Amino acid sequence: MKTYDIKDLSLAPIGKLKIEWAGQQMPVLKKIQKRLQEKKLFKGLTIAACLHVTSETANLMIALKAGGAEVVICASNPLSTQDVVAASLVKDYGIPTFAIHGENNDLYNKHLEQALDFKPQVTLDDGGDLIHLLHTKRKDLMKNIIGSAEETTTGVIRLKAMEKDKALKVPVIAVNDSDTKHLFDNRYGTGQSTIDGIIRATNILLAGKNFVIAGYGWCSRGIASRAKGMGANVIVTEVDNVRALEAAMDGFRVMKMVSAAKIGDIIVSATGDKGVISMDIIRILKDGAILANSGHFDVEIDMAGLKKAAKSKRTLRNSLEEYVLKNGKKVYILGEGRLVNLAAAEGHPAEVMDMSFANQALAIKYFLENRGKLENKVYVLPKKLDQEVASLKLQAMGISIDRLTKEQKKYLSSWDEGTK
Ligand code: ADE
Repeated sequence: MKTYDIKDLSLAPIGKLKIEWAGQQMPVLKKIQKRLQEKKLFKGLTIAACLHVTSETANLMIALKAGGAEVVICASNPLSTQDVVAASLVKDYGIPTFAIHGENNDLYNKHLEQALDFKPQVTLDDGGDLIHLLHTKRKDLMKNIIGSAEETTTGVIRLKAMEKDKALKVPVIAVNDSDTKHLFDNRYGTGQSTIDGIIRATNILLAGKNFVIAGYGWCSRGIASRAKGMGANVIVTEVDNVRALEAAMDGFRVMKMVSAAKIGDIIVSATGDKGVISMDIIRILKDGAILANSGHFDVEIDMAGLKKAAKSKRTLRNSLEEYVLKNGKKVYILGEGRLVNLAAAEGHPAEVMDMSFANQALAIKYFLENRGKLENKVYVLPKKLDQEVASLKLQAMGISIDRLTKEQKKYLSSWDEGTK
């Protein structure tokens, strides 16, 4: 059986340094690694991960292996793999890795299968591709599965749809739904890394620009607040009344996409849904508008429609393509319409992935502790684990907080201490 398919093993020394640097910003994961390692809690377990192959993910893989597991990883997006990291995972850490930056869809899918060939008992997904494969082409492997953990909002939506249709055949933990994941990774992580991707690809000034963000979920809120912080005029588009109202009261202009498209200098979609920037929208854009997607799948911008409608296309910089429409209008696309924070930058900083991946490790531990007791449903980790992860992070940041007194605890749990 093949144990790796990566770009170039000789890149390993650069990858190792990058992994070590990220690891230094991941104290919570390190603490959990130590606990797993001391008792070899994952001994005998095979874990297949389909995650973005970054220096942060490498630290998760190393932690799981240190806990006694056999681990294998493949990419969760064709453009997010850091080839230097993939090389180091294989060469320095002996971790089977199937990921090449820029791989085509066929190779991407082959890599998923190669990871599953290791016959995992636990799978980790970012977007639900491994679990989808297990439920379709690789049903033969389902009997081995104890559980699967999902990292991202899009994947959780997919899994909840499976649960609703009674199509879900394994227990799943929605890691995304832990507070110490989405409140930090989705908001501050996506906020910073999306702006980072836009700037790396274009080197434009955000101050004074009309910056449109489609959606006002945790990711979009992070992007909106960071763009505002850089001096952009932020406009939010939404389909949900409550979220639209929140955006308005957070101080953003809220309007329909058809109106925002006419004035936006930069338009970012982070809704998790398809067809947000459709050809109808692309036709009415300002000349020279920049489009980016920060949702998991490359479905938010109608790239196929744009390619068909364009009379020419050229690459101006890394991750920056210019399309000229038949009427001469120019439209700029970042990272081929794939998630801009990983395609044009390096994804979220390690400090937030620290908590996301601590939750991934805790999800695996939860599967083992509850083996045989879980139904084929989408679960969320117990809230006490959020408290534990947050407490470890606060400790690492040197922050102490107050504790409730006995009287305060009693007051909060009583119902007859109202107006006296
Ligand atoms: N998702 C977003 N940013 C990431 C990162 N740095 N590593 C792994 N997955 C990510």
